[in-house]
Amino acid sequence: MLINDLLARTRAHEERINAAFQRVVARGWFVLGPEVAQFEHSFATYLGLTHCVSVANGTDAIELGLRAVGVGKGNMVATVANAGMYSTTAILAIGAEPCFMDVSPDTHNVTLAEVERVISLGVKAVVVTHLYGRAADKIEEIARACKAAGVMLFEDCAQAHGAQISGHKVGSFGDASSFSFYPTKNLGALGDGGAIATDSDEVAAVVRSLRQYGWSQKYHVDRANARNSRLDEMQAAVLSEFLPLLDAANARRREIAQRYVNTIKHSKVSLPSWAGADYVAHLFVIRCPERDALRTHLRDLDIAADVHYPLPDHRQPVFNGVYAAVSLPITEVLVGEILTLPCYPEMTDEQVDLVANGINAWAA
Ligand SMILES: Cc1ncc(COP(=O)(O)O)c(C=O)c1O
Repeated sequence: MLINDLLARTRAHEERINAAFQRVVARGWFVLGPEVAQFEHSFATYLGLTHCVSVANGTDAIELGLRAVGVGKGNMVATVANAGMYSTTAILAIGAEPCFMDVSPDTHNVTLAEVERVISLGVKAVVVTHLYGRAADKIEEIARACKAAGVMLFEDCAQAHGAQISGHKVGSFGDASSFSFYPTKNLGALGDGGAIATDSDEVAAVVRSLRQYGWSQKYHVDRANARNSRLDEMQAAVLSEFLPLLDAANARRREIAQRYVNTIKHSKVSLPSWAGADYVAHLFVIRCPERDALRTHLRDLDIAADVHYPLPDHRQPVFNGVYAAVSLPITEVLVGEILTLPCYPEMTDEQVDLVANGINAWAA
């Protein structure tokens, strides 16, 4: 069994996808056209925000979004180290300095205490990643703490489209937020895509310029550090077809997660504690002290499982040991125990039970 079956998705939505492609082909406008404008408007409305500015991918969205909220070369920017290096890559691309925060052992998300610690160190901005599709539970308090300190709050929502806290969608708590539409995401395109969302007219205008060569108007470049990072019309058209399905797909993901929680019973496996609308089950991640043995056992049963992510950012080889003295005790324990099980909306109950029973049968 695959960890994520994209062919099942395209098969299930073949008509919508073909309609989207046909619309674009018939119009003959392929980059930054009416489909992009329509999707940006719909997604901003879905989030309850004024602006959505699409870009080429979720990593560009973090980088251009951070630049737009004022992060520049030499600034310290806080981020977690357990979220796949994406935010750190964006921070490094700006020439800013990552300042790593530890996470909660229960939610795998950053804690308020860690945010308060990095604020006291003088960071310019804090990136909060809503990891595995779970909204950081203290995001409202984190937003207040950042605001009081004059620190920019940036939310990385690449794994959490549609997750809510107190009736507000993630991406609406900070000064700006980023999304990825990589095909496996809860709202995924059929290629790369990303977006920045914000209520700030100024941040939106800066990102619109940064994504297109730094133009103020066509062929007039007045902004430095820009690039070409645009969403194409095909992807925007597909995303417009998938957006109305997002809440139902998230509900099905939650059902799958609940079925796992009800069915998996093994003394060496801890299951995530999750609640309701704050979790959109992007990844279903269990903990097991003998993770590698369990993974091998599942592989023998032809069940794919993965590790998100196997190496924390501060231990990545690119740093050549620069962060060797940085200790993030919880992150470092979790990295050896986490295991992601298949969880995607097209999964059948029978497939979920196959995975769960496979775990229950593990003679550890
Ligand atoms: C948490 C997180 N942030 C950022 C990204 C980067 O998105 P992209 O792959 O579209 O650049 C991803 C996914 O790949 C992600 O999972």
